[in-house]
Amino acid sequence: MSMGRLSRVAYVCGALCFVVSCSLAIFWGYKVFVHKPSMEKMDQAKYKYHFVLVPEEMDNEYWRLVGKGAQAAAKQNGVLLEYVGPKQANFDVHLKTIEMSAASKVDGIMTQGLSDEQFTPLINRVVEKGIPVITVDTDTVNSKRLAYIGTDNYYSGVLAGKALIADTKGHANVAIITGSFYKNHQQQRVKGFEDAVKSENGIHIIDVEESEISRVRASEKAFQILQNHPEVNAFFGTSALDGVGIAQVVEQYKKTGQVYIIGFDTLPDTVNYIRNGTIQATVVQEPYQMGYEAVKLMIDLVEGRKVPSIVHTDTRIMRAKDLPLTRKNIGEGSK
Ligand code: BGC
Repeated sequence: MSMGRLSRVAYVCGALCFVVSCSLAIFWGYKVFVHKPSMEKMDQAKYKYHFVLVPEEMDNEYWRLVGKGAQAAAKQNGVLLEYVGPKQANFDVHLKTIEMSAASKVDGIMTQGLSDEQFTPLINRVVEKGIPVITVDTDTVNSKRLAYIGTDNYYSGVLAGKALIADTKGHANVAIITGSFYKNHQQQRVKGFEDAVKSENGIHIIDVEESEISRVRASEKAFQILQNHPEVNAFFGTSALDGVGIAQVVEQYKKTGQVYIIGFDTLPDTVNYIRNGTIQATVVQEPYQMGYEAVKLMIDLVEGRKVPSIVHTDTRIMRAKDLPLTRKNIGEGSK
């Protein structure tokens, strides 16, 4: 084969490899991050309305509960509900999913207002087009969203701060692991906590780190904190998987009982760690109710009824003593 021919063959092979690897990368990215609305498979005629719920992370137990609540209300009211969005937290995919849902002219979109910069302009555009938007779990209060349903995130941070003061008798060196530095609800939870503890002379916030709402990353951050700041003896985890990530590291370090942990949410792993004494307290949210009520509010909106602009779901602190009695602690109680 001549040199010219050889280099042409090499060039074609190279180009082929490039095309194949690009297609694989796109396919993989699509599989990992996007769940496409599947309207075409569904019989729209059976339903009164078509709503979409776009969470920040579909593969997340907390969001599955919001989805379950929304699905229950949808079923009872003849609504077709789609639960779509990034499988793992990703701003671009989240925003794209809202845009795609609006383009396919759904009757209502329920989503988080994660950041004023990225979410407010998009939410405003969607609402101006005539598609109602309700924020769930996280609000962009200055957007044109028609209602917010979820926790009062600032207040939940205050509750966490007060619980920590009470449980540590006002003496603790605290590290905060937050889901994100950039998302509204996480910022509000941290701010509420900081405000609640700021007049306590014995409480010091030593470090604030970010978990990107990943349990593994929360563990990595907790590990680094304990290495870099051995004086830390309390943690506050501000999103659903942070407490569990911290608890794993505290157990590994054999520091159970020496390090105080307050987490967020009542997912089964968190409750188990409260039961075994590694996590001392958690901030309760009502994800199922958020989803359920969001669909009801959306129906009210599309049927022209007035809805409140803010609906706060219940939030409170849960400790081991608040858990339902198990055979083990019934036994302990009767000793
Ligand atoms: C928050 C959700 C977040 C989840 C992450 C919850 O505490 O309310 O917005 O997606 O944690 O695990």
